[in-house]
Amino acid sequence: MSGKEKSKLALVIGGSGVAGSAIVDALANRNIKVICVSRSGRLPAKLVEHPCVESLACDVLEEGLLKRKLSKFPPVTHVFFAYNASPSVKTSQMNLFDAKKARSLLWWGSWFFRLPGVRAYAIKDIARKSGADDIRYFNAFENVYKAVQSPAIEFFGVVSGGKHYGVHLPPEVYARPTEVPLSEDATRRGPGPNNYFLVEDYLRKQEIRYCCVLPSYILGHAPAAMYDLATSLAVYAVLCRECEVEFQYPGNMESAQCLYDVTSAKQLAECLVWSSENFFIANGEEDMNSLLNVSGGDFFTWHDMWPRLADFYEVIPSFSQDGFCLGEFFLNHRDAWSTLATKHNLKESNLLDLIDISFVDKALYVSWSCIYSSEKAKSLGFTYYPGALEALKDVFQDLKEQRIIP
Ligand SMILES: NC(=O)c1ccc[n+]([C@@H]2O[C@H](COP(=O)([O-])OP(=O)(O)OC[C@H]3O[C@@H](n4cnc5c(N)ncnc54)[C@H](OP(=O)(O)O)[C@@H]3O)[C@@H](O)[C@H]2O)c1
Repeated sequence: MSGKEKSKLALVIGGSGVAGSAIVDALANRNIKVICVSRSGRLPAKLVEHPCVESLACDVLEEGLLKRKLSKFPPVTHVFFAYNASPSVKTSQMNLFDAKKARSLLWWGSWFFRLPGVRAYAIKDIARKSGADDIRYFNAFENVYKAVQSPAIEFFGVVSGGKHYGVHLPPEVYARPTEVPLSEDATRRGPGPNNYFLVEDYLRKQEIRYCCVLPSYILGHAPAAMYDLATSLAVYAVLCRECEVEFQYPGNMESAQCLYDVTSAKQLAECLVWSSENFFIANGEEDMNSLLNVSGGDFFTWHDMWPRLADFYEVIPSFSQDGFCLGEFFLNHRDAWSTLATKHNLKESNLLDLIDISFVDKALYVSWSCIYSSEKAKSLGFTYYPGALEALKDVFQDLKEQRIIP
């Protein structure tokens, strides 16, 4: 271990999550000491025995608590904020997202959005409804920021997301700029206020080196995570194989044809750690340089990708015009999963404790192209770009090795 690595102490907030666990992994692989923070204090399974990794159970929403808990450690030098303020999985499972119904409501309502003022009202309403979560996210961030203040602090990294560009809103509600892939520049694209803008604005005013990375759907795994696309798709494919039914694409034909982008959790982690080592951006005029897209860069349509996933899991792919509610399929196949889990000695036999059954429906509801330019990260020297299929297969293999998927 070099002297430089030896003197680093990293803090990963949300270190047990999809993004956070990959960041802990990337740091530990470099022999950097890491404190992995979450409420549960759970460590990523692969890292439980790792000598560089220590867990710290702490609710970062409780003001002052992290500061008190950190007092037994040497001063932190690097922070990686991969917190997610989502409600617990069990609660959200009860609200199935029926993309078909939501689309039809949007279709009927779309003329209404064209009336003067209505679109602006809808955006404000969405911002108001997500306001409480956004504030919670910001409070967590500010508590962490204050807890780590010391002369030793060198870098603050944040896992941001597509909300920065407003990609979560349908074009009927929010007319995105047509130029895709989306690139990081001084123009804010998404409607605000939102949690990411609050954090960016805060960091911009501080005397600290920082980087907010903007991933697409993150491909990794964390038990019961809210957004875990790869695991959800793997569970679906395996259930189709076991029950001998077609592997039907849940979205509609429109969503199957538009361009998608994904980010491997490993790539995200490598990019963030790389930016902490190489990305020396001052505050002030170059502020927007502290934003960095990170995704595969090899855009794909699900129409092309679906048969490849089907090949991998040896199932028969199919599409339908309107799609269907995959969440309902998952609910109806909970017993089939338990049986399968017992048969193959899998770690998790309760499907509801493994994935958020409504996430794929939400992800594939998106029938507008939300793809990210990788030009900036490439021009700064970041070189790790696994293709989308490679990244998906990588996670599938990992899930198998961890006995999560047979
Ligand atoms: N996953 C994706 O596909 C995706 C895509 C784009 C952007 N993002 C963004 O990336 C960020 C990280 O998301 P993720 O998917 O990696 O999240 P995640 O898998 O749900 O993990 C969230 C982490 O935060 C911890 N946490 C939650 N509340 C906490 C609290 N009060 N105190 C301390 N720790 C807490 C959780 O552990 P405990 O529950 O044990 O506390 C967990 O370790 C979010 O901003 C998300 O919007 C995610």
